[in-house]
Amino acid sequence: MGGSRSRGLVECALISVLVMAIEVAQTSSANMFKPFNVSYDHRAIIVDGKRRMLISAGIHYPRATPKMWPDLIAKSKEGGADVIQTYVFWNGHEPVRGQYNFAGRYDIVKFVKLVGSSGLYLHLRIGPYVCAEWNFGGFPVWLRDVPGIEFRTENVPFKEEMQRFVKKIVELMREEMLFSWQGGPIIMLQIENEYGDVESSYGQRGKEYVKWASQMALDLGAGVPWVMCKQPDAPDNIINACNGFYCDGFKPNSYNKPVLWTENWDGWYTTWGGRLPHRPAEDLAFSVARFFQRGGSFQNYYMYFGGTNFNRTSGGPFDITSYDYDAPIDEYGLLSEPKWGHLKDLHAAIKLCEPALVAADLPQYMKLGPKQEAHVYHVDFDIEGLNLTQYRSGSRCSAFLANIDERKAATVTFLGQTYYLPPWSVSILPDCRNTVFNTAKVGAQTSVKMVDFDLPLFAHFSAQKQSMIHNGVSYISKSWMTVKEPIGVWSENIFTVQGILEHLNVTKDHSDYLWYITRIYVSDDDIAFWEEKEVRPTLTIDSMRDVLRVFINGKLIGSVIGHWVKVVQPVQFVKGHNDLLLLSQTVGLQNYGAFFEKDGAGFRGQIKLTGFRNGDIDLSKSSWTYQVGLQGEFLNIYTMEENDKAGWSDLTLDAISTTFSWYKTYFNSPDGTEPVALDLGSMGKGQAWVNGHHIGRYWTLVAPKDGCQRICDYRGPYNSDKCTTNCGKPTQSWYHIPRSWLQASDNLLVIFEETGGNPFDISIKLRSAHIICGQVSESHYPPLWKWSQSDFNASILINDTTPELHLRCDDEHVIASIKFASYGTPQGSCQKFSKGNCHAPSSFSVVSEACLGRNSCYIGISNTVFGSDPCWGIVKTLAVEARCMSSSNNVGALQL
Ligand code: GAL
Repeated sequence: MGGSRSRGLVECALISVLVMAIEVAQTSSANMFKPFNVSYDHRAIIVDGKRRMLISAGIHYPRATPKMWPDLIAKSKEGGADVIQTYVFWNGHEPVRGQYNFAGRYDIVKFVKLVGSSGLYLHLRIGPYVCAEWNFGGFPVWLRDVPGIEFRTENVPFKEEMQRFVKKIVELMREEMLFSWQGGPIIMLQIENEYGDVESSYGQRGKEYVKWASQMALDLGAGVPWVMCKQPDAPDNIINACNGFYCDGFKPNSYNKPVLWTENWDGWYTTWGGRLPHRPAEDLAFSVARFFQRGGSFQNYYMYFGGTNFNRTSGGPFDITSYDYDAPIDEYGLLSEPKWGHLKDLHAAIKLCEPALVAADLPQYMKLGPKQEAHVYHVDFDIEGLNLTQYRSGSRCSAFLANIDERKAATVTFLGQTYYLPPWSVSILPDCRNTVFNTAKVGAQTSVKMVDFDLPLFAHFSAQKQSMIHNGVSYISKSWMTVKEPIGVWSENIFTVQGILEHLNVTKDHSDYLWYITRIYVSDDDIAFWEEKEVRPTLTIDSMRDVLRVFINGKLIGSVIGHWVKVVQPVQFVKGHNDLLLLSQTVGLQNYGAFFEKDGAGFRGQIKLTGFRNGDIDLSKSSWTYQVGLQGEFLNIYTMEENDKAGWSDLTLDAISTTFSWYKTYFNSPDGTEPVALDLGSMGKGQAWVNGHHIGRYWTLVAPKDGCQRICDYRGPYNSDKCTTNCGKPTQSWYHIPRSWLQASDNLLVIFEETGGNPFDISIKLRSAHIICGQVSESHYPPLWKWSQSDFNASILINDTTPELHLRCDDEHVIASIKFASYGTPQGSCQKFSKGNCHAPSSFSVVSEACLGRNSCYIGISNTVFGSDPCWGIVKTLAVEARCMSSSNNVGALQL
């Protein structure tokens, strides 16, 4: 079969071994490396005496479970990362002042050890302000209550608290031997986060705070470099780094500092009711290649794995529970293709250049055309005076050729040879001669994830489970129980005061919910007045955030959603006493901006009732009763132990769509190892728990109908509105339930629903890359791993330059069928392939033989592989669409 071979099982086994090795190592302490020092010069971070070009992968440990960590780290390493980067989440580690939590998803020591034992380095961004779309930017909410405190400025109480926490973390890392000089993985730290964005709002005190924070950090004697991102006035011993979609023009504030990119935004976050952002792989690769082209030396993907905002950790306002971020590893821990694979190729290309990149102090610039340029890394010579032979004589040389034209391709001449550059692309030439990679030429496969079952996956379910499948959806349960959440007061733990208290001052963020309850007296005269004048009284509130629900006499009469918006809500009262209840809700606390701790939540300004006979009633001065939270939350009725405390009754079909209700059911886990998603698309807004684990807020808010692009053109500068999807659909309907939170059967699912929904339609689904496609032509570059560096001169070598098409299913999945295969001139893209005029008859059999039944396979793109040339003189392409299936399924069912 010529060049068609399969490495699938071997590859799969290797990854499993790596994951197991990491797991074994996780308990052993330190000495993951021989102790080494880290410093830097103007060109790069210097690791153990050597300048390095470093690729870093952002993974925030609490956005995954400890069980997921080894696999995420292994996939980062396989994707070409040298470093894992994470923030430290203060409010997770110190939920109550002085009471620390370093367990479970907050077991940062375990996470760092896993990174180290896998041979990767770690960049620890302590902050402790982190932004990160994380509740309150990572600050504990109790910090607001420290007397006299002002955040992130020259303020003694704040500085004391900040120093105490930063010191705690540095000491913990030192005790656990996690710094590089102790044999641990930590090579770099970060203090503060993008303070430069807000510094001017703090005047002189802001400047002093920067100096203090830097000195405080340095004085901790951690022994590795500190970074401040977006901090143009970072002092001498702290490296100021760049964050953004592109950082290739960035210059640090001193010649002694290297060019670091702490956040390359490879996607973006979204809010409830928002569209889903996507950043194309070609543009992302372009930004990274441009960065290394123009002198960069450390680049981190923010995020490489985004994960999930479990619990109430999402920031805001209104950040959704998923933090997928369109990252190379998706929210569920599966590879996002072609992003992951394209970047893997890019990283391999950069690695081939590393010897030249670190040897040269500066790249040399060559203009190649109006919008085309080369940067050459070369040690010995001045390139202008060089001739071709000298170049090829083996002195170390790597070059990047860029075409920054957004529309047109260009053919350029570089050192006597011509190169074709697609628009908005960079070609990488590790030996200044051979192109090994171009950012706009994607050879990696595409994967289409499914969170639904196709028929064959029904095999996962027992007969009993199958009976719950209707119209292709498996409902999680046929029997549900329900209990109503009281409207208003439910405990003795209430108090009454004159006036409106600020929301967070009352809840301390122990719950999203705060009830404000007052009583309004309505006279006969008022009623007569309204009838006569044909007016309705109206509740007005100067300003509120995030969600308000208005109840009169126990009935929900209106809801308002917004971020500091005015409320004008017509109301209807009966004669006599009326109970007016305002339920104020937060949906993620502010995480960005100057003075954001002063933002608070709930209401601002005046609250009044207009339209009364005797004039407006100023409710801001009335007497209000306060009730924090929900009864169900405080009784912990979502836990296995406490759920019986509620008076559950059977839910009947006619009672489903009620407001303010709790629902519970038990369900069995789907078999297999695929990630599990809960489809809450039939519900309104609320929170969900599985076996007592809070899987997050949910909200079926729909994205605007318009503003999504039919075609996503990678060319030209990216912004987060550029390639959005999901218009007119709920922003999020699937919620990740980590496998480690599930047991085989009788899993308790508890839901609190505010607005009404149908629990009978809640379903559970498995997520996997069900459809995979590849499209590689004879003009593609050969696989990166085939290149090697020659030992005795600086050239790079390759034996066989045949391009290859690679296909790979998720772990423990195999290629079950080939839906399309054509070697020739196939048209279209994944799921829409069709044969062109030229088609090799052997296409299907060659691909089937190489791939069927295997986890991964690869096929050479050459006439030899397909038996003969199907159309002489024409550039041929191989396009394949295949289906993956869990390998635990019956192999007899492979042919779908
Ligand atoms: C940056 C910030 C990150 C994150 C990002 C947006 O400005 O440093 O923490 O919030 O924006 O995802």
